[in-house]
Amino acid sequence: MPSLATVYEPYFPIGAAVEPQTLLSQGNLLAAQVNSLVAENAMKWERIHPRPGDDPSSYDFTGADAIVEFARAHGMRLRGHTFVWHNQVPPWVFQDSSGQASKTDVLQRMRGHMSALLAHFRGEVYCWDVVNEAVTDTGEWRADSPWFRAAGADDDGDGVPDYIVQAFEHARATAPGVKLFYNDYNIEGGAKLDRVVSLVKALRGRGVVDGVGIQGHWSLYGPGPELVRSAIERLAALDVEVQVTELDLSVYRPGDSSSLAELSPGLAAEQASRYASYFKVFRDEAEARRLTAVTFWGIADDHTWLDSFPVTGRKDWPLLFDTHHRPKSAFRAVAQW
Ligand code: XIL
Repeated sequence: MPSLATVYEPYFPIGAAVEPQTLLSQGNLLAAQVNSLVAENAMKWERIHPRPGDDPSSYDFTGADAIVEFARAHGMRLRGHTFVWHNQVPPWVFQDSSGQASKTDVLQRMRGHMSALLAHFRGEVYCWDVVNEAVTDTGEWRADSPWFRAAGADDDGDGVPDYIVQAFEHARATAPGVKLFYNDYNIEGGAKLDRVVSLVKALRGRGVVDGVGIQGHWSLYGPGPELVRSAIERLAALDVEVQVTELDLSVYRPGDSSSLAELSPGLAAEQASRYASYFKVFRDEAEARRLTAVTFWGIADDHTWLDSFPVTGRKDWPLLFDTHHRPKSAFRAVAQW
């Protein structure tokens, strides 16, 4: 069986999101197929910094360190995911004894958290998703994010919520050699892409962003590969790297909550042909030096977040290998063109 990492060597690293337990259940497949990893959950605030305060006893690096070890043992690169996101952050980050914590306190906690992780993973993690999903699908700032509520005011009048700029500036000052990314989904077009473009321009003007992650939680129903191409080109024109950071292709239409009992041969073939079209775009864009990495959100269909999202308990088959780790037709479409 070909190795994706080898086949794509001339183009870009091939990555996968992992959990400490999938390093065990999927370790052989990962070692054979990818040369880059990202922690699916193990570096998120609630896992890595579960307890209030900022001393070593507040942190728990156990799960993340297992991933670092595996990456090092197999000579893989490692992406960092993620510092500032509205999900999977403990409530204490935004509270104090009198209720809502002040903007000053919340930003100080944010900086302390980032400093601790940047120090702990120094030399191991080559890039970080500094801010994740700060924009809504209609292109507004995500005002219901606890970060926005606490520190979303634009006191310096640069058009960007202060917590975003401060996160990037702090990361840059603390770890000048690490690549800093803004990461989001549904940014292939429309008002959301427009907003992300203006955000990246503002951050680029300050010299504090290096890349944009297009998550790539797509489906058999879209987005069209040419739309993806135009998004990559528009972002790359801002003089930043573009990566696809969380690729998977659901077999369900967005908004549809019906479920299938199995992946039919017809759907498997459609999935293969969609994967083929996306990877044709990826190879073209890599040759033009506009796309620098592709990371799948998992490796095989026995472990995918889409089994619990957006419909709890519904089986999905979004990845290149089946639940028994056998290559699907989607794998062949990506590995042999
Ligand atoms: C998901 C994980 O895959 C799940 O295990 C977890 O329960 C929720 O988060 N965008 C992101 C990722 O940036 O961090 C999310 O990961 C999927 C959507």
